[in-house]
Amino acid sequence: MSRVYNFSAGPAVLPEEVLQEAADEMLDYRGTGMSVMEMSHRSKAYDEIITGAEADLRELMGIPDNYKVLFLQGGASQQFAMIPMNLMKNRSADYIITGQWAKKAAQEAEKYGKVNRIASSEDQTYSYIPDCSDLPVSEDADYVYICENNTIYGTKYQELPNTKGKILVSDISSCFLSEPIDVTKYGIVYGGVQKNIGPAGVVIVIIREDLITEDVLSGTPTMLTYKTHADAKSLYNTPPAYGIYICGKVFKWLKKMGGLEVMKERNEKKAKLLYDFLDQSRLFKGTVVPKDRSLMNVPFVTGDADLDARFVKEAKAAGLENLKGHRSVGGMRASIYNAMPYEGVEALVAFMKKFEEENL
Ligand SMILES: Cc1ncc(COP(=O)(O)O)c(C=O)c1O
Repeated sequence: MSRVYNFSAGPAVLPEEVLQEAADEMLDYRGTGMSVMEMSHRSKAYDEIITGAEADLRELMGIPDNYKVLFLQGGASQQFAMIPMNLMKNRSADYIITGQWAKKAAQEAEKYGKVNRIASSEDQTYSYIPDCSDLPVSEDADYVYICENNTIYGTKYQELPNTKGKILVSDISSCFLSEPIDVTKYGIVYGGVQKNIGPAGVVIVIIREDLITEDVLSGTPTMLTYKTHADAKSLYNTPPAYGIYICGKVFKWLKKMGGLEVMKERNEKKAKLLYDFLDQSRLFKGTVVPKDRSLMNVPFVTGDADLDARFVKEAKAAGLENLKGHRSVGGMRASIYNAMPYEGVEALVAFMKKFEEENL
């Protein structure tokens, strides 16, 4: 068996021991004689899997009792519509545009009501997070929406925006469980799991109970109403059962590792190694304003597109995969999620040093 260091932005690297455990349980899940993929989502064995996963996530994130945890389908993008459908009572919402994902969410919300783009960093190719301490939050806004970690551009909010009392909705797809967060600051905090937690398709929505109502926009499908899933404990229909099972294993792995404080320290240490190298490199340059740098996604360039392409190719040959930047921005991007070991970042930095020496 040979595994590469996978720097993909998502789907992304998962803890090896989780994959190994899943492999061991593939044909016969704990004496049931079947795979989790083959089992009824109403069975006792599966009930233990999904309730255990929720309990572990609640413990990891310190989710208060007045928040529901929903395991849904459709990826993070489905939430771009589900959020306005369920929350836009006044048909108005404020969006802060810090990259493609926030932009897409705003465009989708526009189908349902008025979208006020109250701040944006588009002027500098989303290389920073705007000052959100005193924004012109709309009087009638049903919520303020952010994308907290911008996977493509490598920025992260270091401080949440001042929403002036409005509900905060946040997409944390690419920083999910990378560090502790205070759930009480959010009305909805959600993310696709395919970066830090599990297989693509599953999206986890953590939602304050008072936001779960029957009073949704007319025409909202049953499947896109939070109440449907909250009432049925994420088992209204067949859930993405195998995906949730893997998420549950990752939650257990995170608990074993020491929880989110420990993950934060590990992630800071990994990111520092790479950023420190970038800051002194004569060939490579980070593209993000230092104060807004993400711990998870690190974009960088040489300034020469041909050299970038050669770097990506040679890195792949050296077992360092998926370092090509997003197709919309070019350059390189190293995604260093929870499951990327420190040694992976060390190997990347060593390779960058060597490439630099050879190409200066
Ligand atoms: C921050 C963020 N939001 C949303 C998405 C879209 O997720 P999905 O493909 O699960 O719809 C992605 C990337 O895939 C992302 O990085």
